[in-house]
Amino acid sequence: MSNSDLDQKAKSILIENDQGGYTVPTKGLYPYQWNWDSVFVALGFATFDQDRAWREIEMLFEGQWRDGMVPHILFRKDDPSYFPGPSVWGTNGGPIPSSGHSQPPVAATVIRELVDTDVTGLAHDRALYRAGALFPKLMQWHRWFLAYRDPDDLGVIAVIHPWESGRDNLPDWDEALRAVEIADIGPYERKDTSHVDPSMRPQKADYDRYLSIMAACRAVDWDPAEVARTCPFFVADPGVTFIFLRANRDLLSLAERLGRDAEAEEIRGWIAKMEAGAKTLWHEGLKAHVAFDERSGKLTDGISSASFLALYAGIRDETTMASLQAHFDRIASKVRYLMPSYDPDHASYEPLRYWRGPVWAMINYMIARGFAEAGDTTRAERLRADTADLIETGGFAEYFSPETGAAAGGGTFSWTSAIWLSWASPTHAEHAA
Ligand code: DGY
Repeated sequence: MSNSDLDQKAKSILIENDQGGYTVPTKGLYPYQWNWDSVFVALGFATFDQDRAWREIEMLFEGQWRDGMVPHILFRKDDPSYFPGPSVWGTNGGPIPSSGHSQPPVAATVIRELVDTDVTGLAHDRALYRAGALFPKLMQWHRWFLAYRDPDDLGVIAVIHPWESGRDNLPDWDEALRAVEIADIGPYERKDTSHVDPSMRPQKADYDRYLSIMAACRAVDWDPAEVARTCPFFVADPGVTFIFLRANRDLLSLAERLGRDAEAEEIRGWIAKMEAGAKTLWHEGLKAHVAFDERSGKLTDGISSASFLALYAGIRDETTMASLQAHFDRIASKVRYLMPSYDPDHASYEPLRYWRGPVWAMINYMIARGFAEAGDTTRAERLRADTADLIETGGFAEYFSPETGAAAGGGTFSWTSAIWLSWASPTHAEHAA
């Protein structure tokens, strides 16, 4: 397929997966609106329909909870092809049935991007107007993260469930998950393994614990303060932490443009706290940021693709920069395609199992942005070229083997299509040059 055929195909996937203002990640496997999927999807729509891009994010925020949380899944209708559905979550925090926790907060960054791309005249004013309407909701959501995912003011953001990180079966969660007692789950039937090869999905032992954590949170009615206090899983995640730190910088830029001085001052405080807090995640032996289990007080022992997001978060001191460049080159000498979701030198690495090794297009996009902004355009371009190669050969898959490039997980995936259109496609790259 030529690049312009791929551009067309990517657009048609977004249009096919569109449910009337919001987009499913892929039909069958993920039949609802997912939080960070939707936000990345907006980047793809923005390349051909700005209004539709805004609508995607506005519809996501329609599901915001009274306490400020924006859920990771909005169940706008019941769909028996997915488990666990709304009745298993048992939440009641917002206007639309939903899951009970959040997902990486990429929205402020993408909203800033949408405002920045509409650079002239009326279109820019309209974009700023729509950003202004979303701004208080973003503030509420970010305050919620700080209150309930960093209750001890460490300057790092914890996740209460591996699904909240968006990187479900990452080896970083293994030890903390093992400590979760399997309780109150009853018999259940997974649906994901009927859509996708089970060897590419989390194991049953993981699912037992995913459901046990949900049961523990249901038992406290998903009250966010109680969840933070009692949830058996509470792990500070470099992925969410760096994405949140970056999102705060973009939220600050929006606040300044919207003339929200008091909020701008508040956000500056968050950024300072998080820049200092990120040091908590630094593993001196590995020379990288890793996860920190707040229940056991232990750092994890592996480098994940999120370790590279330090640059995207604006942490670009010499030590971080030099170590990440060295890790990048070491990993590049081990696998054909960057960036594997987990270090191929780690014993838990598995090239085809979801978040234990495969390459994900939107993670590559964020890592590349960080390298480019830090002045390392060579490594940024390597990530773009690898992403383009993977999609050219494997199509718009959910994820890819870093070793063979084989397409894996679900097919006709919305965010892979969106990242192609907005960044990886050579057509786009020529346009941007
Ligand atoms: C799933 O069902 O696998 C999802 O990743 C949960 O968000």
